[in-house]
Amino acid sequence: MYKIVVLISGGGSNLQAIIDNIQTGNIKAEISAVISNRADAYGLERAEKADIDNHVLDNTVFESRESFDQSLSQIIDSYEPNLIVLAGFMRILSDEFVEHFRGRMINIHPSLLPKYKGLNTHQRALEGGDSEHGASVHFVIPELDAGTIIIQGIVPVETNDTVDELQQRVHLIEHRIYPLAVKYLAEDSLSLEEDKLLYKGALLNEPFKEQLN
Ligand code: GRF
Repeated sequence: MYKIVVLISGGGSNLQAIIDNIQTGNIKAEISAVISNRADAYGLERAEKADIDNHVLDNTVFESRESFDQSLSQIIDSYEPNLIVLAGFMRILSDEFVEHFRGRMINIHPSLLPKYKGLNTHQRALEGGDSEHGASVHFVIPELDAGTIIIQGIVPVETNDTVDELQQRVHLIEHRIYPLAVKYLAEDSLSLEEDKLLYKGALLNEPFKEQLN
């Protein structure tokens, strides 16, 4: 069985979307564990409800980023996962950690990368007067929000949108594209050659795209 470990810090709606897709049989995989750096993350309840092993690793009790990352690595490795899914995991990861899981760790970022790396992406898309915004699923490399992009979900920006409205629209497309990326990886349809993405052995010139409709 293809094994996944999911890292979260908060609500875990993307985690839920992946759980749901596994339960309906759309993704052929199991989530072996959910790990949160925050004890109050609602995603932990989602894991509990779905009967998934879950752990809290509180980063504030660690002396350094490296020592936290080492403990995190150990927990993840104990499950021998095929894939590590960052789903709203609000931590900068050390280079060593990222290299250890390189090629089998993915993240979802709430912007159409390479636009708006970092934080406050919805606010920045509004301030930029963008007509489109969205989210990107990408492999994780040491450089922040910069690895090979697998799939992007595009949503319209409506006149007078608030940050909240735009964020909710982006969440809707996130819940479609993240499970899709996980599905492709779990069925072994996707691979990386250098930093180029292959789908069923054929080079993709650009990431997959989904529109909100
Ligand atoms: C998502 O918007 C994702 O793009 C970002 O963090 C948010 C997580 O939301 N990385 P949730 O915890 O999955 O609801």
